[in-house]
Amino acid sequence: MTTVLSIPTTPHRGPGGRPTESAPVALWHTGGLMNQMVDGHLGVNPIGATMTTAEATTRPSDLVIVGTGGMAREIFGIVRAINARGGESSFWHVLGFVDDHPVDSNLKLVHRLGARLLGPIRLLAELPSDTYIALGVGDPRRRRRTDEAIRGYGLAAASLVHPNAEIGADCVFAEGLVAAGGARVTTNVVLGRHVHLNQNCAVGHDNRLDDFVSVNPLAAISGYCRLEEAAMVGSAAVVLPKLTVGSGAVVGAAACVTRDVPPGAVVKGVPAR
Ligand SMILES: CC(C)(COP(=O)(O)OP(=O)(O)OC[C@H]1O[C@@H](n2cnc3c(N)ncnc32)[C@H](O)[C@@H]1OP(=O)(O)O)[C@@H](O)C(=O)NCCC(=O)NCCS
Repeated sequence: MTTVLSIPTTPHRGPGGRPTESAPVALWHTGGLMNQMVDGHLGVNPIGATMTTAEATTRPSDLVIVGTGGMAREIFGIVRAINARGGESSFWHVLGFVDDHPVDSNLKLVHRLGARLLGPIRLLAELPSDTYIALGVGDPRRRRRTDEAIRGYGLAAASLVHPNAEIGADCVFAEGLVAAGGARVTTNVVLGRHVHLNQNCAVGHDNRLDDFVSVNPLAAISGYCRLEEAAMVGSAAVVLPKLTVGSGAVVGAAACVTRDVPPGAVVKGVPAR
């Protein structure tokens, strides 16, 4: 079974002055039964520990997706896949999207999904405190800024694992994890807050991915690596074993990282420079 390691809470006041009880930061351990992650409610909404399993299965949790761009709409698809999976994991009700500067083309695509824009991000202040959010912002540094802007509202972030993704045994993850279809995480991996694992990426054993890291589609992270806060590994890139990608660094698409990447650096090519 998945077990809670810790739930530290910090008193918060919302940006609009609304007092909020807490901004929960939970760490979850996947134990030895991995399919609990992808088949059961635990993998869908680990923060749902604040409610009982019975509540989780009888009443959907409301969810708001922040952003309307590609990542936001992909998250909508992940939620739909989770709900379609049925059973205990069918319990997300997407209220809609919030975005301060939605572009028309994205709004049209949101409507095509059968969803709607609720309004600007500050609307989060009006929502019941048991509403969950998902950060639909692909760029790690922008995702971090968005998190800073909304954290005071005190809403918990959902952790969303596509039914075709797998988070292996003995992994730890914090709230806001998004794992798209085909993402694979093996064992003894620590995933920080709002880590995004995109389609078909592979995260090997004994890795640590700090808060706001993005691993783009098809990228492969070998064992014993450390991806520091808000680092991004581009599509189909490879990070060789025991390397560190520094905070905010960007690894270009299809690069092969053969040495540590300093914080803030942009590297590309094979070997990555
Ligand atoms: C590496 C990267 C960050 C560089 O971005 P940038 O600074 O805006 O680079 P530019 O597009 O201005 O290109 C600058 C040069 O680098 C080259 N280049 C860009 N990306 C490259 C890559 N991944 N590998 C090798 N060369 C690359 C360009 O061809 C160009 O070369 P030139 O000066 O000889 O014409 C970016 O191209 C990239 O790969 N990002 C990852 C994107 C990704 O994974 N997207 C998936 C989202 S789901």
